[in-house]
Amino acid sequence: EETGKGQYDHYMLKEIDEQPDSLANTLSGRITDDGDVSLEEFPPGTFEDVDEVQFVACGTSYHAALYGVQALENAGVRARATIASEYQTPTVDENTLAVAVTQSGETADTLSALRAAEAAGAETVAVTNVVGSSAAREADHALYIRAGPEIGVAATKTFSSQVATLTMLSHRLADDLEQGTPREDAAEFFSELEKLPEYVEQTLKTSNAKAVSERYLDKGSYFFIGRDNEYPVALEGALKFKEITYEHAEGFASGELKHGPLALVTPNAAVFALFTGRRGEGTRKNAEEAHTRGANVIGVATHGTDVGGFADATLRVPETHPDIAGLLANVQLQLVSYHTANMLEREIDKPRNLAKSVTVE
Ligand code: G6P
Repeated sequence: EETGKGQYDHYMLKEIDEQPDSLANTLSGRITDDGDVSLEEFPPGTFEDVDEVQFVACGTSYHAALYGVQALENAGVRARATIASEYQTPTVDENTLAVAVTQSGETADTLSALRAAEAAGAETVAVTNVVGSSAAREADHALYIRAGPEIGVAATKTFSSQVATLTMLSHRLADDLEQGTPREDAAEFFSELEKLPEYVEQTLKTSNAKAVSERYLDKGSYFFIGRDNEYPVALEGALKFKEITYEHAEGFASGELKHGPLALVTPNAAVFALFTGRRGEGTRKNAEEAHTRGANVIGVATHGTDVGGFADATLRVPETHPDIAGLLANVQLQLVSYHTANMLEREIDKPRNLAKSVTVE
């Protein structure tokens, strides 16, 4: 049955494995043959009056929102993401589009940020997985990520679908807005986005994440570093890891390592360094600094990318457009968290102290 575990020991692994299908569902009918975005909810011209986008979200959804900010800013659209519980004095006007990103549509902090934006006069959109959820009902518009039910407390397939959805929404916005400059490589980019389910499938089939996890099981700290749209993936990799393994994990922008976190880097640390984006050179330097301090560096990279001789292990993903390859890196990191937690015999689907949906502020 759709919500049963089937042959799986855990919903989390089932949901990780479902990503080729859930992503195909997210994308279905939303990309045209000539490589453009077609959102039934938002026909061209919907956002002509928007001049700024404000995302509000919590947890994993906040990381997806950060990915959305990158996509919009790269297209010349003013955008920012705020952790919903920190969205206290919204500076909005009628040209602000406030986008609540929430898998469940029921997170109290996100709903109150959505209400604050509405009260201040913003136009609002809920990007959610749950049809008819509070966020979907309360926002001016709902855009569904169509990932299907997610039972594991740690979000996996819904993060991928959120990012894919926000990528398409960002293109619609860039197209509609006067200040927006839609990507010149749209045809190529969207044809790669359409192939994402296939790439995820290849990643899952060939992943060595279990062996890598086993190798670093006894570390005291786990760090995740990346630049640009890999930064939210680094944050998400660390969040997943701490949620289900209960081990100390942190995500950093690669360039920030030298501004403090490097003090934590010792031979007792494993550093997952992301090389799937446009600025791998910079990250390589940062990762090498971690290696020099005795940490084990694990490179997460596309097949053709040189991760540097200092890397202790590599998690590979298929070659694709650098703006979406981070999602493939994220799949590898989901598997690392899963296998590590499994070997440590943690309660994977219901981690201690956490809830799937937090309905109190
Ligand atoms: C809880 C869950 C997280 C989730 C967050 C936001 O903390 O444990 O996995 O990312 O809520 O949930 P939402 O439903 O708003 O995306």
